[in-house]
Amino acid sequence: MVEEKIRKLFQIGGPEGFNKKASEPASKPDEIIKALDLSPGMEVVDLGAGGGYYTLRFAELVGAAGRVYAVDTNRGNLEHIQTKARERYLDNVEIVYSTGDDVPLPEREIDLVYSRNVYHHLTNRVEYFRRMRRFLKSRGRVALIDYDGRGSRFSFSFLLGHYTRKETVVDEMREADYRLIEDYSLLPKQFFLVFE
Ligand SMILES: C[S@@+](CC[C@H](N)C(=O)[O-])C[C@H]1O[C@@H](n2cnc3c(N)ncnc32)[C@H](O)[C@@H]1O
Repeated sequence: MVEEKIRKLFQIGGPEGFNKKASEPASKPDEIIKALDLSPGMEVVDLGAGGGYYTLRFAELVGAAGRVYAVDTNRGNLEHIQTKARERYLDNVEIVYSTGDDVPLPEREIDLVYSRNVYHHLTNRVEYFRRMRRFLKSRGRVALIDYDGRGSRFSFSFLLGHYTRKETVVDEMREADYRLIEDYSLLPKQFFLVFE
C-alpha cells in the first residue's frame, strides 16, 4: 500500500514507466544488449518482462527464425507487450503468464534467460532456477541484473529492500547447479551476472 503510493507519487512503474527507465542511457541498454551477444534464430526468455522494452529489442535481434518469450505475473504488462509487438509486426514474441512459481515454457529449447530487476521478487530462488534448467539448451545461459545495495541509502530500491547482494546471487545460483561465466562491472548500482 505504502509502496504503491510512493510509486504513484514518483511515477515509477507501470509498463511505460518500466520502459522509460530501462531505455535511459544511464541504464546502459545498448551495452547490456551487446554483452548478451544475441544472434538470429535464438530462443530467449525475458523473465519479468515489465513493459517489454527488452523483449522487443531481443525480438528484432533474433529475427523471424528466433523467438522471445515475455514472462510476467502481471497480465496488464503482458497485454501491453502483445500490443506493442503487434504494432511493430514482431510475430516472434510470445507472452507467457506465470503464477510466480511456475513458468510454462518449451523444454530444452532456450538459449538465454534474461531477467532485469526481478531477482529480488522471486521466492525459493534456488528451487526456481533448478526447475528452470529443464528449459535451457545444454549451453543455455541465464543473465541476471538487479540492484545490489550499492548507492544511496535513500534510494527507492534500498528503502524498499528491492535489492540482493551479488554474493547471495552467486551462492544461490551455484546451489541451483549453475556456473558463473561472466561478472560485468558495467552498471554502478546493479550486478550483471551470466551463468551457464
Ligand atoms: C521492476 S519490473 C522490471 C521490468 C523489466 N524487466 C525491466 O527491466 O524494465 C519487475 C517485473 O517483474 C514482474 N514479476 C514479479 N515477480 C515475478 C515472478 N515471480 N515471475 C515473473 N515476473 C515477475 C513484475 O510484474 C514486473 O513486471
